[in-house]
Amino acid sequence: MLIGNLYAQSDSLYDRDWLSASFHKVRRDSLRAKMAPKSVTVVFANAERNRSNDVDFQYSQDPNFYYLSGLTEPNAVLLVFKEPQTIDSITTNELIYVQPRSPRDESWTGKRLGIDGVKQKLGFEHSYINTDFADLNLDFKKFDKIYHSPFNNDVRDDKNDAGDLYSLIKNFNDKTKDLQTKDYYNFYSFMSDLREIKTPEELVQLRKAIDITCASHLELMKKLESNMTEYQAQAIVEYGFKYNGSEYVGYPSIVGAGENSCILHYITNRKKLTPTDIMVVDAGAEYHGYTADVTRSLPVSGKFSEEQKKIYNLVLQAQLAGIEACKEGNLFRAPHNAAADVIKKGLMDLGIISSPNDFVKYFFHGTSHYLGLDVHDVGNYGRFKAGQVITVEPGIYIPENSPCDKKWWNIGVRIEDDILITTGTPDVLSGKLAKTVEDIEKLMEKKK
Ligand code: GLY
Ligand code: MN
Ligand code: MN
Repeated sequence: MLIGNLYAQSDSLYDRDWLSASFHKVRRDSLRAKMAPKSVTVVFANAERNRSNDVDFQYSQDPNFYYLSGLTEPNAVLLVFKEPQTIDSITTNELIYVQPRSPRDESWTGKRLGIDGVKQKLGFEHSYINTDFADLNLDFKKFDKIYHSPFNNDVRDDKNDAGDLYSLIKNFNDKTKDLQTKDYYNFYSFMSDLREIKTPEELVQLRKAIDITCASHLELMKKLESNMTEYQAQAIVEYGFKYNGSEYVGYPSIVGAGENSCILHYITNRKKLTPTDIMVVDAGAEYHGYTADVTRSLPVSGKFSEEQKKIYNLVLQAQLAGIEACKEGNLFRAPHNAAADVIKKGLMDLGIISSPNDFVKYFFHGTSHYLGLDVHDVGNYGRFKAGQVITVEPGIYIPENSPCDKKWWNIGVRIEDDILITTGTPDVLSGKLAKTVEDIEKLMEKKK
């Protein structure tokens, strides 16, 4: 969720640690380098989405649009040309169309950059107001390829705004009607190539999101009481996020205790805790668009039961084996294969399964995904390269009525860390957060 007020970037009372204009410019140059001769890329800002009546969801910029421009406002379109184009009297290799400044609108919903702000703060040489896009004097037939971002099917038509996203997409489609050169597939592939490798500037943002996340999980370990609710546990973690500057959660926090620990993406978070529960806490702060994704599983009483400890240690061994496999050159599936082998054997040894391949009943998700501007970030799922950031997050979930001894029922455990692939040993960016049984129990004990 990319929110923010870039307008205020030069004001020392506001955050000044956004990605630099030159970062975004270099990213556009990198995209341009991938594009075929005689081509253009057209990228649209994200849609504004309605929640109900006159309340919208908080606006979230499209990650590709943000990556290439730095703009966090809606109703905008960016054009990147492979070769400079002469349009009317100007020659340029990129154009951006943005919302106009409007004292009336800005007094309701906040300041906008406008065409001058986009020049000054984001470094574009040629910016225009979005209503001018309809008059763009450019024949798209001249391009051999027109790469473009996808069109969401939930874009609303604001009849009072001729520059809204609906109009921008309609104008683009009118200008490119019947052209077979339109290409979404390669746009996606170029962006995956670019975004899967994090630059040092992006790593600063990601590390910040991850540090905030780890500090907040740590607070929960220290403060959790067995008479709390799932939502109170969530509140402790999310308080830490907000207090430390995160604008938003990177995804809805998953705080599931007891039977809810066995629901992978449980986000209701309304149950009262009981001391025998184990609780999966999968929560990540977002900082300037970059999100962490960290999971810890805690014994609500502060002490793991014998069964919980056995499952926990098995998941931990699987996770450590997965992290070990995060080496440059390894296949993306290597951490999953390593973790699955450990879990397969461990579940057999505990008598929970009687045939090795039955492990998928209890570990039924992948182990890794890329992480960045999206929690499930784009990437090529090829071989690991230095600069990629991925998660390693095996889990075991044994819901009630599973075909095993009932002493294992309602135990769900996931352990998730964020890993930077390097040319050497993997860098566990969330590695400072406690995850052994002993360390967790010690931290939970201290609060008494
Ligand atoms: N938080 C969602 C996931 O771990 O993929
Ligand atoms: Mn994850
Ligand atoms: Mn997660």
